[in-house]
Amino acid sequence: MSQETQVDPAKLAAARAAVALVETGMKLGLGTGSTASIMVRELAARVRAEGLALRCAATSQATADLAASLGLRVESLDEIGWLDLTIDGADEVDADLHLIKGGGGAHLREKIVAAASNRMVVIADPGKMVEQLGAFPLPVEVLAFGFETTRVLIRRALEALELGECDVLQRLRGSEPWITDEGNLILDLHLGCIPDPVLLARALAAIPGVVEHGLFLGMCSLAIIGREDGTVVEL
Ligand code: 5RP
Repeated sequence: MSQETQVDPAKLAAARAAVALVETGMKLGLGTGSTASIMVRELAARVRAEGLALRCAATSQATADLAASLGLRVESLDEIGWLDLTIDGADEVDADLHLIKGGGGAHLREKIVAAASNRMVVIADPGKMVEQLGAFPLPVEVLAFGFETTRVLIRRALEALELGECDVLQRLRGSEPWITDEGNLILDLHLGCIPDPVLLARALAAIPGVVEHGLFLGMCSLAIIGREDGTVVEL
């Protein structure tokens, strides 16, 4: 495989360890982001070398395009149905394997694909490991319709959870608003820390204009953390 000179060795180590879990006949979910892209390239190299028969559902148009360009068989999630394994990156991972995702703006599709999988494996470099979630701004995908109302409802929810002066902590992503694959907007919540991710997830999910937030709680069963020296740690 030919990525060594071009990519972060820690991400490559994690990606390779995850691709080693893939067996012929599997139905796979492919994540989004730089680490997931490395994984897709490694997967395609294995498929070429070993002739594995795989069916893949992608979590973003970018990943679908990359995977198809490398010769992987990409189908819609509904064509494939239930998946054996999804391999994806993350922005933060805590010791309970709770995640923040959505730095690449794909967390809605990523969560749907993960929910349709027997197993979700996260691949990451050591910088993604945290004691407490929340230093990374939490992405929240919201509908354009009623956007200002949704913002107010989010602020009230954050205040009710005593998460600070939250109206200055919601940033619309992009100078031109970032439009997701589903045509929605993204608000990044700069919270600093999230003492109770379960409560926050529940509060955000209860707001009508919120399509999906980037907290992935109880979805990941294995995190593979790559190291610069090419070894990995599994959590
Ligand atoms: C995209 C994601 C990514 O998995 C996350 O942002 C990590 O990306 P990278 O591997 O580039 O650090 O959630 O929505």
